[in-house]
Amino acid sequence: MNFDETIDRIGTHSSKWDMMEPIYGVSPKDGIAMWVADMDFRPPACVSDAIAAMHDHGIYGYFGDEGAYRAAIQWWMKERHGWSLDKDAIFTTHGLVNGTAMCIDAFTAPGDGVVLFTPVYHAFARVIKAAGREVVECQLDIQDGRYLMDFERYDAQMTGRETMVILCSPHNPGGRVWTEAELNDVAAFARRHDLTLVSDEIHHDLVMPGHRHIPMACIDGIEDRLAMLTATTKTFNIAGSHTGNVIIPDPGMRATFAARMAAMGQSANSFGLFMTEAAYSPEGAAWVDALCTYVDGNRKVFDEGVAGIPGARSMPLEATYLAWVDFSGTGLSPADVTARVEKTARIAANYGASFGTGGEECLRFNLATPRARVREAVERLQDAFTDLQ
Ligand SMILES: Cc1ncc(COP(=O)(O)O)c(C=O)c1O
Repeated sequence: MNFDETIDRIGTHSSKWDMMEPIYGVSPKDGIAMWVADMDFRPPACVSDAIAAMHDHGIYGYFGDEGAYRAAIQWWMKERHGWSLDKDAIFTTHGLVNGTAMCIDAFTAPGDGVVLFTPVYHAFARVIKAAGREVVECQLDIQDGRYLMDFERYDAQMTGRETMVILCSPHNPGGRVWTEAELNDVAAFARRHDLTLVSDEIHHDLVMPGHRHIPMACIDGIEDRLAMLTATTKTFNIAGSHTGNVIIPDPGMRATFAARMAAMGQSANSFGLFMTEAAYSPEGAAWVDALCTYVDGNRKVFDEGVAGIPGARSMPLEATYLAWVDFSGTGLSPADVTARVEKTARIAANYGASFGTGGEECLRFNLATPRARVREAVERLQDAFTDLQ
């Protein structure tokens, strides 16, 4: 594993590198792609070897018998997260945006309200609206520079039309690892308002040293209303395989979900299943440990650099490789900040407003790239705001 290797992704149908110019006006030739949440690293050899074995065999037919795939998931969750799960609880979807959309379809009705703690991963609101449901934004508080939830305020916001709440755990874009007490509060909120709880835990392996993620399924008294979403794709940089898991502890909810999966004609992609089984292994685990240490190093370089820009502030990153920078203290308008980042620094970063209320003055920067590129990015950012010194 050599995370310092620079791999040219231009011209490979990479969304992150090949779409930055049409979307942000930043050329990949001299620009830095720090938006889409995938990494500029190769996955561990165990994953590439699984694909090489498929290639050597040369036949790409339908997949059968998910026994080993499910056993690999059970092993990983027990080994890495202390969570024993029933193999029959696992449904495989075409990634987790699809998994979220399937949950909305299965467990809510058109016109229902779906609660989001904003700012939060933008695709949630997109699929809620596309399904004809209403986004109910419960804005996160900021205390000591970190996001917190305020359930007294959220209780007062509920109208009775809400039937689902979607939690992002760990939180994208704020980088929070929710504590056990906070997860208990989310569970109590879901029970109080009779909401199905969808807990998207796609970032659950990307936790910085010193922090520990707790799966929502390990919280007492939530199993009868929970759908937990996990995947190998973010952790191992195999998002193109579009494979994710919706894990449902309750048998009644499973039957409802299975019926919707059947109605949609959903079945899994064999590449994703082979890669997942290979990734969830001791070799995959060692690679993830090294990756998190490397990303934590990038985080330090980036945060130190951002601290040199008067009025800009990075949220402390407890998990994910996505830095969330609040530029409100610069006194500049979001449009001015964005222009400096794109035109002067030539960096493509996600617009904060796309994450919902509370994100307007922030930008999200992807740090899963060789450290030399992170250093270059912070130098360019400091130059772009040099007049504020
Ligand atoms: C919280 C969260 N959920 C889901 C996804 C995307 O999942 P998928 O590629 O499996 O659809 C992302 C990607 O960044 C994410 O951050």
